[in-house]
Parts: sequence; C-alpha cells; structure tokens
Amino acid sequence: MMILDSIVPFGRSQKEYELMFALSESDRTKSIIGIGDGPASFNAEMNAAGLTVISIDPIYQFTGAEIKSRFDACVDSIIEQVRNTPNNWIWSYHKSPEDLRTNREKAISLFLEDYDRGKIAGRYLNAELPKLDFQDKQFQLALCSHFLFLYSEHLSFEFHLDSIRELARIAEEVRIFPLLTLAQARSPYIDEISSTLAKEGISSEIIQVPYELQKGGNQAIVFRQ
Ligand SMILES: C[S@@+](CC[C@H](N)C(=O)[O-])C[C@H]1O[C@@H](n2cnc3c(N)ncnc32)[C@H](O)[C@@H]1O
Repeated sequence: MMILDSIVPFGRSQKEYELMFALSESDRTKSIIGIGDGPASFNAEMNAAGLTVISIDPIYQFTGAEIKSRFDACVDSIIEQVRNTPNNWIWSYHKSPEDLRTNREKAISLFLEDYDRGKIAGRYLNAELPKLDFQDKQFQLALCSHFLFLYSEHLSFEFHLDSIRELARIAEEVRIFPLLTLAQARSPYIDEISSTLAKEGISSEIIQVPYELQKGGNQAIVFRQ
C-alpha cells in the first residue's frame, strides 16, 4: 500500500482535463495515453463518448474498493486543508471547498463504474514511470495531470527527467499540468529539464490554459520530439 499512502488518489473529470490541457476538438480524437490518471473519470467519460484513452497508474494494481477506501480516508483532511488556506485557491471552476469535494466524489464514482470493464478492455493498465512498456510514438498525445512537477518535493530531478524523456519517446506530444508544486511554488525542475531535453531534440513550450484551482496554476508545458 506504499503508493496509496504517499500520493492521494484524487481524480478529475473529462471537462477538467479538457481545460487543464487546452484540448481542442481534434486533440480529443487523437490516440491518448493518460499518465497517473488514478481515479479520474477522464477515461470513463471519453470512452462513453466513443473516444479512446489508455490510462496507466500503479494504483491499478488495487481493486476499486481499495482505491475508494483510500479516497474516503483522505478526503476530509484534504478538504479541511483547502478550507484552512483560503488564499491559495481560485474558485472559478469549482465554486467552493464543498463543491470541490462533490466534484471529486463524482469523478471517482464515474471511474469506479467503469473500472472493472475498462481493465478487461485494457484501458486501465498497472504501470509506472519512469519506464513504460510501449513502442516509440505509439500515442499521439500523452497527458499527465497532477503528478509530475506537482510532487517535486517528493520525486527527484532525475525521476522527472527520465519520465519526461520516456513520455516523449512513446508519444508525439506530451502535456503536463500544473507547473506548481503542492506548496504552490513553480517547480524548481522546469528550466533545467527543458534545457537538458532541448539538447536531445525535445522542444518545450509553456502554454496558458483556461483552468486554475491552485492560485497561479494556469499553465501547462508541452514537449515534442
Ligand atoms: C493526485 S493523483 C492525480 C490523478 C489524475 N491524473 C487527475 O489529475 O485527476 C496522482 C496519481 O499519480 C499516480 N502515480 C504515483 N506514482 C506514479 C508513477 N511512478 N507513475 C505514474 N503514476 C504514478 C498515483 O497513483 C495517483 O493516482
């Protein structure tokens, strides 16, 4: 249960993914891999709309009931932390801490309804960065929400560098959101990762996106090889 203890299984919706990654109509129809999708409902909702996403996450080694019980054990204290730090949050998409909680509960319940069926279909795979078992450029788009950069205090520079290099290998384009850490500071890794990868032929570009929950967290970074 190491993984479940260190990183919170909070999940976002398809609408949030569309905003966080500034997904266009044509992006939605690309072959997409979601990295560290956890209990997000992005895959479930995209599948219901006839679109295809493969999600990878080490929590997919657990059952739906195990993932839900970990969520239930965390949710009160996280919402409490949010309530206690009112200056850190922008209530534009979610209207309040209570609304945030309702939306996270909705996402995990859509995920759980889809999880067993999606596992059988190969849409939820137990795998983890920094090494993934996919072919070069197997996907058009890799999306990584609230994992890389967010946990910069917990995960090393080398882990980030190896992971992003791996994502640029398996996908034509990689988008990561947000650029902030849990402490709401810009990740200290971004500039050095961009310059190191540029020397290997992987370009990067920071884009503004129409989503902000962590104050100042309205940018994503795009890598392309
Ligand atoms: C805060 S959640 C974000 C979930 C989802 N991406 C979203 O934004 O709604 C972070 C996720 O990263 C996953 N994770 C932890 N270690 C990982 C690794 N080495 N590779 C990929 N995902 C990992 C966790 O299991 C967790 O589900």
